[in-house]
Amino acid sequence: MDTSIRLLLVLCLLHAARAVDQSNFKTCDQSSFCRRLRATKPEERSYELNLSNLQISDNAVEIELLNKIDDVSLKFVLTALADNTFRVFVDEIKPLYPRYQVEGSLNGEPQVARLELLDRNNEEIVVKSGENKVIIKAAPFKIEFYSGAKLSAVLNGRGLFTFEHLRNKKPSGDGETDLGDQAPQESEDPGMWSENFKSHHDRKPRGPEAIGFDFTFPEAHRAYGLPEHADRMALRTTTSGGSNPYRLYNLDVFEYELDVTMAIYGAVPVLYAHSPSHTVGVFWNNAAEMWVDITNSKDGNVVSSLVSLVSGQKQEMHVDAHFMSESGVVDLFVFLGPTMQKAVQQYTKLTGSAPIPQYFSLAYHQSRWNYNDEDDVRTVVEKFDEHNFPLDVMWLDIEYTDGKKYFTWDPIKFKHPETMQLNLTATGRKLVVIIDPHIKREGGYFLHEESLSNDYYVKNKDKNVYEGWCWPGSSSYLDFFDPKVREYYSGLYALDKFVGTTKDVYIWNDMNEPSVFNGPEVTMPKDCLHYGDWEHRHVHNVYGLYHTVGTFEGLLKRSGNKLRPFVLTRAHFAGSQRYTAVWTGDNAAEWSHLAYSIPMCLSEALGGISFCGADVGGFFKNPDEELLQRWYQTGAWLPFYRAHAHIDTKRREPYLYNSDVQNRIRNALRQRYAHLPVWYTLFHEHEETGEPVIRPLVYHYPSDLNVFDIDNQLLVGSSIMVRPVTESRASSVSVYFPGGPNEIWYDVEDFKPFRGTGSINIPVSMDKVPVYYRGGSIIPRKDRPRRASTLTHDDPFTLYVALDDNKSAKGTLYIDDNESYDYKNNLYIYIKFTYKDGVLSSSLIDDARFSTSAWIERVVIINPPSGIKHATLKSKKLGTTKLQTTYDGENRSLTIRKPGVSVMDPFTITLQ
Ligand code: NOJ
Repeated sequence: MDTSIRLLLVLCLLHAARAVDQSNFKTCDQSSFCRRLRATKPEERSYELNLSNLQISDNAVEIELLNKIDDVSLKFVLTALADNTFRVFVDEIKPLYPRYQVEGSLNGEPQVARLELLDRNNEEIVVKSGENKVIIKAAPFKIEFYSGAKLSAVLNGRGLFTFEHLRNKKPSGDGETDLGDQAPQESEDPGMWSENFKSHHDRKPRGPEAIGFDFTFPEAHRAYGLPEHADRMALRTTTSGGSNPYRLYNLDVFEYELDVTMAIYGAVPVLYAHSPSHTVGVFWNNAAEMWVDITNSKDGNVVSSLVSLVSGQKQEMHVDAHFMSESGVVDLFVFLGPTMQKAVQQYTKLTGSAPIPQYFSLAYHQSRWNYNDEDDVRTVVEKFDEHNFPLDVMWLDIEYTDGKKYFTWDPIKFKHPETMQLNLTATGRKLVVIIDPHIKREGGYFLHEESLSNDYYVKNKDKNVYEGWCWPGSSSYLDFFDPKVREYYSGLYALDKFVGTTKDVYIWNDMNEPSVFNGPEVTMPKDCLHYGDWEHRHVHNVYGLYHTVGTFEGLLKRSGNKLRPFVLTRAHFAGSQRYTAVWTGDNAAEWSHLAYSIPMCLSEALGGISFCGADVGGFFKNPDEELLQRWYQTGAWLPFYRAHAHIDTKRREPYLYNSDVQNRIRNALRQRYAHLPVWYTLFHEHEETGEPVIRPLVYHYPSDLNVFDIDNQLLVGSSIMVRPVTESRASSVSVYFPGGPNEIWYDVEDFKPFRGTGSINIPVSMDKVPVYYRGGSIIPRKDRPRRASTLTHDDPFTLYVALDDNKSAKGTLYIDDNESYDYKNNLYIYIKFTYKDGVLSSSLIDDARFSTSAWIERVVIINPPSGIKHATLKSKKLGTTKLQTTYDGENRSLTIRKPGVSVMDPFTITLQ
């Protein structure tokens, strides 16, 4: 056997079979900049603002920031932005080389706000924007952010600010002057000018260039955010007990462990510090390897850093964060909320919300590595139909390609891909195929040859095309930072270029951290070179983002800008939500992984990425029947709902199980399909407002201390609360009902009411998942079972009207053509439903119009007023009609049959 093939086999086997080997990934101590910055000594702080060198404009103040020890001048800029947001920017005034500034994360240029100078003396300046005030102190260099009179965040309060200026390596005494690979100067950290990890050598031609900043959040009880980590939602203290800081460095970590601060596939450097009275957010817009230390004063033995900060007073609760990045500039944003809702919206406004996805993509997806051939795909779909399981999308993993050459089909197993797709679309289904960023280095493969001849590949440190190992064996990697490459790449998705695809094929971008089996930490060496002469170290965390930009644009172009693309990615960064959905990668068929799918997606949602899910059933290992059923029941309440499995696992399509198991899985799927109008409406509202689609309890109940650590329960919008059963053999689960004695939560099955007064043990069977509608909400559902969501578009709605204590309720419903951008031309309807004083009414929220034949089939009033005898419908088109009502005493509900009114026709139904 050829040695390279043998090596490939070994690497693939290792990659496919091993459990996480932590020693393959760096600790902070093994990453020289993290080691250096973590050891920063505040007493040696050398930075001071030169307030005599200050420029102030309508929106910003720019001040010289001096590193007095090294005599280096930095530029410090504070800009006031719209919506209670400030931007802090620090760069060298005259850097030896330009320093990388991330662009792709922001949704365009942020909108500036007016900044006024309130006060200025030799020690500090005070500026104001709206209700917020910022005090910038010269020495010690420190910035205080006030929301009204409240001190909300202190930047550099602990004096950990570091800005390693770019420098020439000093001659090492033996006459050598070459940059890089040299012995360090005395007093220098040995990793400053080159670094080894395992067998890998990082040349570091530019030497040290790390940056760090610390934050203190007075009064904060918790910090949330910083996805992606396989950890709980509330961030833990990392500065004691030998822990590593949270690491953000997109990595392909096979069989990742839970409860660790290790990096995995995505990096979204946004953090929210939360107290019962306010929330502050911070976004550290930097694409380099990053570590974030968190210290929460509640975790004991934590020295209060606030003692010296605020007039000598000791504050019990606070959170400290220390951001450390290997390179780049300081470009950070502070969101002053003041609520969590506002802080999340401020962040999402900056990085963009997700455009409303096509309706089908919110339905159920069936994947495995791999569906073997066209027959297999056909059979799976037929079996789904035969057993009445709804299904919208079939997925093909890497084996569909011709020898792992993306944009090709295996000529034997997938000989007639178009016919296969036509069979799918005939039953209302779509297809998703995988396209990874590594390109097989094989003569005759058009993509490799074109990329080579056009110089589209990432280069190694010697400026030759970089070669690494991935699924196809020897591979090179497209340099998506080059606009020409993105343009070329997006063209590859054209239907006449990706031969065998139709408009109903959508795309899954995997392995785009990028994953390199033989690279340091299974990724690309940091001294590789990208477009614009940036080293990989500068841009690593946005490689996947730019990959998905190319794909998104390709799908857009392919449809003449008509259809909304659907892309799923594994690697992601802040802003990825504008292009793609994410999933939590290679989880395992274990109860703990099922449970962690909830906090992992909740953290993504707070990080702007609502369209998140986890492999239903678990990727590695074989779930037993109980776990599989619970996974279907849980996945039905996360935004992205896809079953997926490793190539070595047993087949586990739902129809393979006994009828009890099938019934439960079918019920879970049907519950998802019934609520698709809710999901779709929430995604519309997310696009408009930036509010996440799924939310932790703390988002809506910010002052309830009991919910701060709850991450096994979630809210879908503000009206549905779910407590998935993620424990084996559970006969009951504890559900926390928030909102106080005036809030009512109704069980969705029997409408049993629960007051929002705390935890209750709820009995569960295998058929039961605790799901509740909040009193005061109106939930539009489509309850008629169908085999695919695409077949439900004209189906009628049932309105579930869950009354609050005042016997009132409200809700919204968004409808458009489910697939195109026509909604941007006002072709949609956005309906408001209100129930008050015995009258249910509908009205159109804005001027937009869309024509649909969908109508209202039924109204279910939960907890209705007593003594109702009649219901009368009035609408423009139908005039006045008497309706039939039935009261169900056991379920405390009143059903109004067949209002028959079109959703386009505003109506009232009066109950008497
Ligand atoms: C890794 C992905 O995480 C997994 O979902 C996929 O099945 C394999 N790559 C093979 O493509």
